Amino acid sequence: MSEKYLITTFGCQMNVHDSEKLSGMLEGLGYVKTDQPKSADLILINTCCVRENAENRTYGHLGTLKVLKKAKPNLILGVCGCMAQEPNEVEKIKKTFRHVDLVFGTHNQHQLPELLLQVKQERRRVFEVWESAGEIYEGIPVKRESSFKAWVTIMYGCNNFCAYCIVPYVRGRERSREPEIILAEIRALVTDGVQEVTLLGQNVNSYGKDFHESNWNFAKLLQKIVRETGVKRIRFQTSHPKDLSEELIEVIANEPVVCHHLHLPVQAGSSRILELMNRNYTKEDYLNLLRKIKEKIPDIALSTDVIVGFPSETQADFDETIDLVKQVRYDSAFTFIYSPRKGTPAVDLIEQVPEMESKQHLRQLIELQNQISLEKNQGWVGRATEILVEGPSEKKPKMWSGRNPQNKLVHFIPEIILKPGDLVWVKITAAHNFTLEGKVLLEGDNLSTIAP
Ligand code: SAH
Ligand code: SF4
Ligand code: F3S
Repeated sequence: MSEKYLITTFGCQMNVHDSEKLSGMLEGLGYVKTDQPKSADLILINTCCVRENAENRTYGHLGTLKVLKKAKPNLILGVCGCMAQEPNEVEKIKKTFRHVDLVFGTHNQHQLPELLLQVKQERRRVFEVWESAGEIYEGIPVKRESSFKAWVTIMYGCNNFCAYCIVPYVRGRERSREPEIILAEIRALVTDGVQEVTLLGQNVNSYGKDFHESNWNFAKLLQKIVRETGVKRIRFQTSHPKDLSEELIEVIANEPVVCHHLHLPVQAGSSRILELMNRNYTKEDYLNLLRKIKEKIPDIALSTDVIVGFPSETQADFDETIDLVKQVRYDSAFTFIYSPRKGTPAVDLIEQVPEMESKQHLRQLIELQNQISLEKNQGWVGRATEILVEGPSEKKPKMWSGRNPQNKLVHFIPEIILKPGDLVWVKITAAHNFTLEGKVLLEGDNLSTIAP
């Protein structure tokens, strides 16, 4: 009987996609997937370290797996991902989580098959973490979770060194994949029936800057993907505001295949805090950029990330964030309390903001954003929009769901025969904070005859 594996993934889309590669390698070795820890022969935890609570979740999870490992000594337990690139954490795992058999980092995850073999054959703990990234390893098999949506990494690493952020330390310097390899991957996905591709990078706007002799940039790559792959929908994330070019705005505006949704993390509204964060733009730069984007792409949906409680943030600084959120009117926002990360410059800033204050600011920000999200969603009622059908809704019985180009989640009653991956038009009939409801439009439907 085949051995079974289970991967638990924390963190961002980059990790989710890495787990698809880990699955691909394991299935190449004959493993089959299970979602039952009890029946697994191998459990991997793909970790995140961007905030302390992400790390705590891994340690909590490792704690609960102790019992299982005791009951099933042959179970192989592995830890990989971003935490595995932090020497202190690896040391902690080695010493205090002795039931962990295998640790490998983000830079050497392609080694999984050989490392696993070492654990099995030599019956010892294997800790192998490369300090820095080597060349990009192409050709790793990928076991994709969806048959109609796919992640495609266009670049690895980050050179920005925002003062609070650990990602550049655990993901290494920026390395762009060759355009021909990206195009070939997307063409193959389209042939396999994939409708929507999301291009991934910590800062996609830096694409190609590490190529020595070429004038590649992200806008050109996006344009070429649109023209040469036949993909129906393209998304991308994340964009750094400091180098989002006019050329890119043009491509988004002119190419219907590029979804009108931009995730443009602002992090803070105060220019003083932005400078301390090493973000390389001011509040005014950001607002000017958004003015330009909204002018060229009026139906663009916007989302952001905001950190509250960065060292020395005052009430006046926070008020700037509130003011910015009111001016931009994002469709949605991910909001975080600043979490000090060892090794980043911000930990040396001594003026920590009291937790109570940060929590209160976070609540205020979420409340404001929820109100704006609802108002923006209400603006959709009565409008027709095309959604990519995901399948039965996880939360709403009898309803299905799908996302429109603006990334709005739309629930609908499947009145006609549909399958996941279909693109259909719906008319929006109701709006909530985080979701919309719609009615499927049939061929020949006259929009005005459908009651909202
Ligand atoms: N490369 C992306 C995302 C990086 S991590 C970008 O630049 O936008 C995702 C988000 O986590 C960041 O945008 C930031 O808002 C948040 N984050 C990163 N480090 C953090 C820290 N130390 N404390 C709190 N939030 C943090
Ligand atoms: Fe972190 Fe900044 Fe790089 Fe994003 S751009 S990964 S926030 S250092
Ligand atoms: Fe976390 Fe690593 Fe992503 S630290 S946010 S999983 S790049």
